[in-house]
Amino acid sequence: MNKIECINLSKSFFVDNNKIEVLDNINISIKRGDLVALSGRSGAGKSTLLQILASLDAPSSGSIKYDDKLITSFNNSDLSNIRLVNFGFVYQFHHLLEDLTVIENILIPLEISNKTIDKSEVIKIIDEVGLSHRINHLPWKLSGGEKQRVAIARALINKPNFIFLDEPTGNLDEDNAEIIQNLLLDISRRYKIALITATHDSNFIKNFDKIYKIQDMNLNEV
Ligand SMILES: Nc1ncnc2c1ncn2[C@@H]1O[C@H](COP(=O)(O)OP(=O)(O)OP(=O)(O)O)[C@@H](O)[C@H]1O
Ligand SMILES: [Mg+2]
Repeated sequence: MNKIECINLSKSFFVDNNKIEVLDNINISIKRGDLVALSGRSGAGKSTLLQILASLDAPSSGSIKYDDKLITSFNNSDLSNIRLVNFGFVYQFHHLLEDLTVIENILIPLEISNKTIDKSEVIKIIDEVGLSHRINHLPWKLSGGEKQRVAIARALINKPNFIFLDEPTGNLDEDNAEIIQNLLLDISRRYKIALITATHDSNFIKNFDKIYKIQDMNLNEV
């Protein structure tokens, strides 16, 4: 897949019969290799927009297209397949499975998709994120930054074209945050992977080609 587009997208939630409007008439187009940052205050709707772009949540109105095809033309199993092949996800908390080793955690997306890739490719990705010496360790033995590297390797293992990141370094100290951010930017450039990143971190944001702010339910480029 090369392009994700959202057209006139609005999203509201209903809580106890109260309508909470979060996003109103949003348009955005993201291509492979783009570096897209989503900023905005807490509660502005960054995570909501990420979830919708990744087809993990549905818009209230408007549409999402993957490569010019409306995603409503895909059924759930098509969509989960599309996500497995094209998308990677990195969240603020790494969500590693604590009973599995580093390498086992990284290989989870391959197991789910029944894909096989060369062992040399796996080794390369692990090397890329600097975890070669840690592959047989359990997550509790790792530092926060190392755990986030595992999450990044896991997001990369299926060779996605788009990685959705929700505060990927929000849980790290400044030095570690910068190391992980540089790693992500470098990987994005070399593999032409789009990074669609919700973040408050102004140091990180300044590296992005397209910086958007969500404010009063609208999305504006800044
Ligand atoms: N499942 C849900 N049900 C009801 N309201 C929700 C739901 N998910 C999000 N919201 C509301 O939508 C708004 C946007 O939330 P969202 O998580 O997208 O914000 P955010 O910009 O990611 O904030 P943060 O920076 O704190 O992560 C908030 O007011 C939130 O309470
Ligand atoms: Mg959020």
